[in-house]
Parts: sequence; structure tokens; C-alpha cells
Amino acid sequence: MTTPLIELREVSRRYGGPAEGPPALADASLTVRAGEAVAVLGPSGSGKSTLLNLIAGLDRPDAGTVTVDGVRVDTLGEAASARYRRAKIGMVFQFFNLLDDLTVADNIALPAQLSGTPRAEAHRRTAELLEVLGIHRHARAYPGRLSGGERQRVAVARALMNRPALLLADEPTGALDTASGDSVRALLTELNADGQTIVLVTHDLALARSCTTRTVELVDGRITADTAHGAGAAAGATR
Ligand SMILES: Nc1ncnc2c1ncn2[C@@H]1O[C@H](COP(=O)(O)OP(=O)(O)O)[C@@H](O)[C@H]1O
Ligand SMILES: [Mg+2]
Repeated sequence: MTTPLIELREVSRRYGGPAEGPPALADASLTVRAGEAVAVLGPSGSGKSTLLNLIAGLDRPDAGTVTVDGVRVDTLGEAASARYRRAKIGMVFQFFNLLDDLTVADNIALPAQLSGTPRAEAHRRTAELLEVLGIHRHARAYPGRLSGGERQRVAVARALMNRPALLLADEPTGALDTASGDSVRALLTELNADGQTIVLVTHDLALARSCTTRTVELVDGRITADTAHGAGAAAGATR
């Protein structure tokens, strides 16, 4: 059996004091294997983004441990945490978070530049991603000129630049119209079929159904369900 890619053990995170209601995350334990695609569902405020941020090392738990690809993420200092994200994590957000004064190609190449990848290699990888994601004709354009679906494809390309072990997405179709949403759903589904491990937060049941093989539900910071589903469920369980 392979070691898990993500392992959360009894992770809790509380903002403010105990008088302020339930913790953002309470005693969450979760194991995700390489190649899985997991949907995190739950009402607004249930701790979904907190869970992703803890996995990404953007936040620290008050209790418990977070291990990703052999790295104890919860104990990293700031610089090591940034290095960890550059090396192992790709992130996609609801509102794309692209840099509007960089071209599409430069947005995509940014993670390679930040991690000191040789220029020629970064250039090759950018060209490859532009092609694979069907956005090559926009390489020299600025993100402001693109549709929402195209912008999200650019954001996914940027997230994949450093070949991350793990792709995290927080409501990746939340700001897209139906057609754009369809193209991003298809893209994420394809990526997982090619072996990319994905954890995504979504209210989009079509995305959860097409892309993921497992659903984790949060209520008031607690994991209340963890269910394998869909055609890929059996395959996911054996990986
Ligand atoms: N930086 C923060 N400071 C204070 N409270 C926060 C912060 N981030 C999240 N919370 C609180 O933690 C809970 C979970 O938030 P979040 O993880 O963003 O939920 P979700 O993504 O499921 O909507 C909410 O009650 C939210 O108000
Ligand atoms: Mg959220």
C-alpha cells in the first residue's frame, strides 16, 4: 500500500476564543491517497476553506498534525512553508487570483520563475500548458480580456506549472457561467484521469460527480461524512 499523500490527524483550528461558537475545524482526521479526487462539501462557514488552507500550509492548526507528501506542514516556518507550496501545491481559487498586469504566459510561468527554474525550461513548460489547456491563442493577452472560463484555465495552468503533487481548488466553478463551468469541469476531470491528485471545495454537484470519486462533508468544522462514489470509486480505493 502506498503512503498517503495527505494525512490529517485530529486537526483543530479555532479563531478567537471559545466563547465565539464552534471551531472552524474540530478533530478532523482525513487520509487522501495519490491519484484520488476528493470533493469537500458543506454549508458556508463549515470550515472548507480552513481545511484547504491548513493542507496548503497557509494556516496552522491549534492541535493535530498535517502531513503532505512526507512533509509535516503544520510545523514549517514561513520560508519553508512558501518553499513547500511552490514545490508541492497548486492552488486554484473562485476568482482566479491572476495578476492583471502580466500576460497570460507570464502568469503561467510565475511559479517556475519563483522557484528558480531555468528560463528555457520554464518557457517549454508554459508552451506545453498553453497548448494542453487550449489557451495558446491568448498567450500574449492580459487576463482582463479573457472570459471567466479562460481565466480559470490560465489559473489551472499556473497551478500546474511546477508539477504539484497536489492540486487544491476552492470553488473553482463558483464564479463561472454554465458553458465556462463545463470547460473547467472537463479540465479538472481530465487532470484527475491523468493521475493528478485533487482536493476541491465546491457547491457544484456536477463538478463533484464528474471529477471526484469521494465526498467529504463538513458541518460546523466536523467531518460528518466521507463517502466513495461514482465510476472511479473502486479504482480510487485500490490506489
Ligand atoms: N481568518 C479568520 N478569522 C476569523 N474567523 C475566521 C477566519 N477564517 C475563517 N473564520 C471562521 O471560521 C469558520 C469556517 O470558515 P471557512 O473555513 O472560511 O468556511 P467555508 O469555507 O466552509 O465557508 C467560519 O465561522 C469563519 O467565520
Ligand atoms: Mg470557503
